Amino acid sequence: MTGKHAEQPIVRLSPSMMCADMLNLERAVRELEAIGADMLHFDIMDARFTPNMPLGFETLRAVRSITTLPFDVHLMVMDNDFFVEQIAAIGAEYVSVHVESATHLDRTLTQIRRLGMRAGAALNPATPPSRIAYILQRLDFVMLMTVNPGYAGQALVPAALRKIGDMRALLDHAHLDIPIAVDGNVSFANIPDMVALGADILVCGTSSLFSPDGDLGANTARVREAVRAGLARRLRAEG
Ligand code: DX5
Ligand code: ZN
Repeated sequence: MTGKHAEQPIVRLSPSMMCADMLNLERAVRELEAIGADMLHFDIMDARFTPNMPLGFETLRAVRSITTLPFDVHLMVMDNDFFVEQIAAIGAEYVSVHVESATHLDRTLTQIRRLGMRAGAALNPATPPSRIAYILQRLDFVMLMTVNPGYAGQALVPAALRKIGDMRALLDHAHLDIPIAVDGNVSFANIPDMVALGADILVCGTSSLFSPDGDLGANTARVREAVRAGLARRLRAEG
């Protein structure tokens, strides 16, 4: 959970595996284990919901065979139910589906839980928090896209930042202590704002952990410092 009501809220890191070195994936996984990644984020795209296809089932299966780190699978697909079944067979702890592509969202979220995984609703930058109003009880987390989905290296959609606070307010109003994940341009500069506004899970890609500006160790230290700054602001705001 968010740990929101704990003394020190918990913010977890979910490195975006589409940004890892595809030619040395096992090494990347070991390095991420070593820096204390809390889970691994896999963007599964069908080249229809988003015009890209960075990772496939075989990559997921291969990484599953070498690590026990939880998998945070982000489905950006049109046929959610098919992909949920495939991901469950491979093994994942968190699965998020986009509200924009889910024809029967309530049923799909229920299916994810029935298959033993935690269910998340993912929202594109333009999608209002109210879209989850009638499926709150089906959710274990919310995934807010802070860029338009599909590619790494994009710039933050500014309005998506404000949405983090709006979503936190909606969940608090519903007395739902579930985490908010943010995905897209989770950069050293954006992390303090994101965490201060309520982000609990950071999908870290080329803007932070995989930044070319430093090695993974140095990037991790910068991320953790940015998280500390954001938490300090959050705790001050909560009084
Ligand atoms: C976007 C992807 C992310 C992320 C990549 O669709 O889901 O994995 O944006 O990280 P950045 O934005 O830092 O390159
Ligand atoms: Zn993602």
